[in-house]
Amino acid sequence: MREPKSSEASPHQVGEAWEEFVQEQVYPEPGKKAKEDYRNYDNPARDTVRRFYEENHRKQTYDFVQAKRAEFLQLNRREMGVFEACEYLNTLVDDSDPDIDLDQLQHLLQTSEAIRADGHEDWFVLTGLLHDLGKVLCLYGEPQWCVVGDTFPVGCRFSDRIVYSEYFDQNPDSRDSRYNTKLGVYEQGCGLRNVLMSWGHDEYLYHVMKDYLPEPALYMIRYHSFYAWHREHEYDWLCDDHDRAMLPWVKKFNPYDLYSKSPKPPNWEELRPYYTDLVAKYLPAAIAF
Ligand SMILES: [Fe+2]
Ligand SMILES: [Fe+2]
Repeated sequence: MREPKSSEASPHQVGEAWEEFVQEQVYPEPGKKAKEDYRNYDNPARDTVRRFYEENHRKQTYDFVQAKRAEFLQLNRREMGVFEACEYLNTLVDDSDPDIDLDQLQHLLQTSEAIRADGHEDWFVLTGLLHDLGKVLCLYGEPQWCVVGDTFPVGCRFSDRIVYSEYFDQNPDSRDSRYNTKLGVYEQGCGLRNVLMSWGHDEYLYHVMKDYLPEPALYMIRYHSFYAWHREHEYDWLCDDHDRAMLPWVKKFNPYDLYSKSPKPPNWEELRPYYTDLVAKYLPAAIAF
């Protein structure tokens, strides 16, 4: 894993540090051991991720999430087609860093191509292509800690199965009796649709796409970073039967997101006609972001 050159890493750097951290150290591929001991306190890249989560866990409060939803979910920032959004997202690459070998578009294409190679339905392939487009939030000037990383419910007690959960001690909601019980502001079995998730690219893109894609695709987009649920099986007490029916789809998507890096990068120009047709089948030419 690469060490960012300054303490103020670019959104891309932290996004990538996060992806690699998850892939190699927290959730290694089944049957493989973690590449390094992520509890190794001398690892500077690990420090970057730790600092990232310290800030994320301290600041993602119930009030903060509601403010971000009010700010962004009117979807009045700009209208873009999918390819325009991909190209816009690719401007996140930090030119000052020579080590970057996988830009955002490559990650999306490698994910979608791995899904396609396994013969899945076309909307599933499309989901692979779209799933991180919510990171355009970074280009609106949003800081990394509220765009990427693990997501989790706010308004109720934070699970200790969330990565770096010790930093929730610094979140004021942990000391607020409205929010620090198992159910907090929610009712048992209320359904995840009624639960506020920490703010980030997943929830944002769900709202951008919610009128266009089949329900399993929307679950994959909305909850792909909700590791405490889809990997650790926490928060079942907030779920209803519909969430439980959708969970296998979210789990099915996850390995493609984490482990689809291929030695031969997909050739975008060759693939473009296929994806142009696929995007046109499900999405309008201009989408409100
Ligand atoms: Fe993501
Ligand atoms: Fe991803």
